[in-house]
Amino acid sequence: MQSTQAEQPRNILVTGGAGFIGSALIRHLIKHTQHRIINYDKLTYAADLHALSCVADDPRYVFIQGDINDGEKVQQALQTHQISLVIHLAAETHVDRSIAGPSTFIESNIVGTFTLLEQCRHYLASLSKKAAAQFRFHHVSTDEVFGDLGDTGQFDEQTAYAPSSPYSASKAAADHLVRAWQRTFDLPIVISNCSNNYGAFQYPEKLIPVTITNALNGKSIPIYGNGQQIRDWLYVDDHARALCMVAFKGKLGESYNIGGDGEQTNLAVVQAICERLNHLVHHKPKGITDFNQLIHFVDDRPGHDKRYAINANKIKSTLGWQPQESFTSAIDKTVRWYVDNQDWCQQALTRSCADEDIG
Ligand SMILES: NC(=O)c1ccc[n+]([C@@H]2O[C@H](COP(=O)([O-])OP(=O)(O)OC[C@H]3O[C@@H](n4cnc5c(N)ncnc54)[C@H](O)[C@@H]3O)[C@@H](O)[C@H]2O)c1
Repeated sequence: MQSTQAEQPRNILVTGGAGFIGSALIRHLIKHTQHRIINYDKLTYAADLHALSCVADDPRYVFIQGDINDGEKVQQALQTHQISLVIHLAAETHVDRSIAGPSTFIESNIVGTFTLLEQCRHYLASLSKKAAAQFRFHHVSTDEVFGDLGDTGQFDEQTAYAPSSPYSASKAAADHLVRAWQRTFDLPIVISNCSNNYGAFQYPEKLIPVTITNALNGKSIPIYGNGQQIRDWLYVDDHARALCMVAFKGKLGESYNIGGDGEQTNLAVVQAICERLNHLVHHKPKGITDFNQLIHFVDDRPGHDKRYAINANKIKSTLGWQPQESFTSAIDKTVRWYVDNQDWCQQALTRSCADEDIG
């Protein structure tokens, strides 16, 4: 989305901008708009500033290392940079980690969102009428808040919340807080709920990067249960464009579902990756003639949702968003990126010891 001539450059606070989606969003904003971006990120194991090296020297980009639970630091960032738009992505995001240790999810996703909302409310009250009229808070959420679906149907914006995991429950709680701050305190908010993303710079613990990394290292590729869980996959750059549309043009107080009509079973995703690797990688690990050999079914994740599917008609019809990539086109370039950037994956994994059999 290009910024139009009439659109004034804004100062945008992106929380979690050093993560997978946040960094894609910042690269998009610096490349395609005139806005100034203040990236506020705690730098957990999932963050990587290398994903932002192409914008690091841009005069319109500023990085602040900070926790969203540090209210004073958040307030200082809002005031110093005269923020007129907050796009809130900072969160703990891996479902398996939320089962192994939920407390950081409660701390960052719920208490952190509460802290941010409170700081934005106080900041808004300090602004002139004109500046306050331009302020907005965009909360970035997930389709996982809706729970799971049977064989048919899709989540739309009216679907009742029914989260299954500590991760999705913490995101659902945050969504409720954001709505309450709008209803009770008139905070100008928009929310988006997106399906599973994939693309470059995703921490190698999620299904797609863990599959590629394990395969290239000749390690087994773990698949939960029978692998028949269905997810609606969206290429991360399509999500970044959607986020810009919701943030700038979304109707205040509303939420927008974002999805790519890319339903695939986990097994089909892994097999598609193995097929591409079979063509791309000539020197396979010892004893491997076909990467599909490495697929290994493991006990299902507790509370594992069966199927997610997104009805994205609202964002398509009201904001004119369309995904530009299909699963076939984007999985191809994603696999190539990870094959070419295995050093990045290995370095990322050294930031955390939890690289065993998760995904
Ligand atoms: N990845 C997906 O498929 C997906 C889909 C839909 C929605 N989302 C949502 O999009 C957002 C970004 O997801 P992602 O995949 O890029 O996550 P990620 O795990 O790659 O990155 C999260 C970022 O947030 C930062 N962070 C975590 N806790 C923080 C705190 N307390 N204070 C400041 N920064 C903190 C981390 O350092 C990291 O840079 C999340 O809110 C997630 O719920 C993700």
